Parts: sequence; C-alpha cells; structure tokens
Amino acid sequence: MSKNFGDSARFYDLIYKDKDYAAETRFVCDRMNRFATDPKTLLEVGCGTGNYAYRFRDAGLKVHGIDASSEMISIAVDKKSSLGGENITFEVSNAEEFSTSNSWDSAVSLFFMLGYQVSDEDLHKTFNSIRTAIRPGGLFAFDFWNGPSVLEKGCSPKKIEIEMQNHFLVRESIPEKCSGQNCFRIQQFFQVEEKDGGKKQYFEEVHKVRYFFRDELQEVIQSNGFELLEMEAFMGGDLEATDWAGIAFARAR
Ligand SMILES: C[S@@+](CC[C@H](N)C(=O)[O-])C[C@H]1O[C@@H](n2cnc3c(N)ncnc32)[C@H](O)[C@@H]1O
Repeated sequence: MSKNFGDSARFYDLIYKDKDYAAETRFVCDRMNRFATDPKTLLEVGCGTGNYAYRFRDAGLKVHGIDASSEMISIAVDKKSSLGGENITFEVSNAEEFSTSNSWDSAVSLFFMLGYQVSDEDLHKTFNSIRTAIRPGGLFAFDFWNGPSVLEKGCSPKKIEIEMQNHFLVRESIPEKCSGQNCFRIQQFFQVEEKDGGKKQYFEEVHKVRYFFRDELQEVIQSNGFELLEMEAFMGGDLEATDWAGIAFARAR
C-alpha cells in the first residue's frame, strides 16, 4: 500500500481540476479582510500542490506552504517555473510538529486537511503548532467535514475515470465508518492504464478522515489560545445540519 498523497500526488491536480480554487480563495480572503487586521503574510498548513497557496500569493500575501507529503510539495515547488517564485516558499513538514521562525499574520488549512488529525492528541498538537506560528491577533481559517451532515448522509463509494493524453486513470473509493471514532476509513484503489491496452499500474491508499462537531471544535480552538470568531457553511451561510462542509475562523489571543 502506498503512503497517502504519495503515488497519487501526480494525479492530484487532474482529479481536482474542476474544484473552484479561485472562488474559494476569494471567499477566504474576503473573510480574512473582514476579521483580520491587514494580513500581509500567510502560512498554509497542508498546502498540497499549492493550488490555494499561489492564489493567496497572487492576492497579495507572502505565503509559506507546508505539507507532510514530499511528492505534493515537489509539485508545488515545480509550479514556480510557470507561476513565478516570488513571495512563496514551500517545505515538507508535519502539521503536528512544525516550527517556523516567522510570526505569521494568518494561517489556513483547507480542503479538509484537519480531517487527517484523527486523534485528539494530533489535533491539539496541530492547533498548538499553528498558534505558536502566528502572531497575537492573527487569523486561522480551516474547513472541516460537518459531523451532523456526515452522520445523516454517510459516505458513499465513488468511482472516477479520467482520460489523459496517453493513459486512463480510474480511482475507486470505498469508505467504511471507523468503529469508536468520528471518522471514515476510505480505501482508494488506483488503476493507471496505458492507452491501446498497454501496461497497467495499480496502487492503493487509505485515508482516514475525521468529521467534527461544533462543541469539540470550540473546545480545541479555545484550549489552544484562539478565540472563535465565526463558524459557517463553506462558501458562506449558516452552518446547517445538511451542510457537508463548514469553515471556522479563529483569532489568536
Ligand atoms: C485533500 S489534500 C488538500 C491539499 C490542499 N490544501 C488543496 O486544497 O489542494 C490534504 C493535504 O493535507 C496533507 N496532510 C495530511 N496530513 C498532514 C499532516 N499531518 N501534516 C501536514 N500535511 C498533512 C496531505 O499531504 C495533503 O496534501
């Protein structure tokens, strides 16, 4: 079995090519301007291949992205040649234990990065690392799977098929509720097939993704030196039990 976002990293941008990173970045920037006092710098924890990071940089922020996957970071770094390398840096690092020398004005963790913090211990370590990295008054924004909605709707198996220039990619995801934990264990089976019936390559990843409830988020926010400013549906509106994704904005005390 491959490690998460290892072998699959090279297909990540293709799989999420229709995700509206531009609109989502604008939404977060709008909230940052509303809540934060003129942020100039941003730390992105779990930045992946840099799809938000470059957009935040283009919106005027100096950005540093960290991610546990060296494969994802390598793709993010490579994008400097086409997108420009000014005001943006990347580093392979774990959310639970990174440290930076800068006192960042703001931080984000997006596309459910915090869901990978399945244990309370890791979740608290991550909040503590982020709190240490940003200055008092700095804003931290993160999205999450919304517990009430996840329990109501459940997680369904999914299959995606993508045609590339010389290959077909198939990814099948089989979720299973974790027993005794608020998370799903999602087995992902990848098949990459050369066109014209050539070689086939298979690999597999297991992603454990946690869902959250308002009270536990409030507790982890407060006990790690933040105050909760807003919790809403991702992309705006009251967070209802039917909303799969929520987003929280917290200010460092
Ligand atoms: C769904 S991807 C989102 C990537 C990026 N934020 C985006 O929206 O495209 C989740 C990312 O979180 C990273 N990640 C998961 N656990 C992590 C951890 N403990 N420390 C740092 N990064 C982590 C993964 O490597 C992956 O790149």
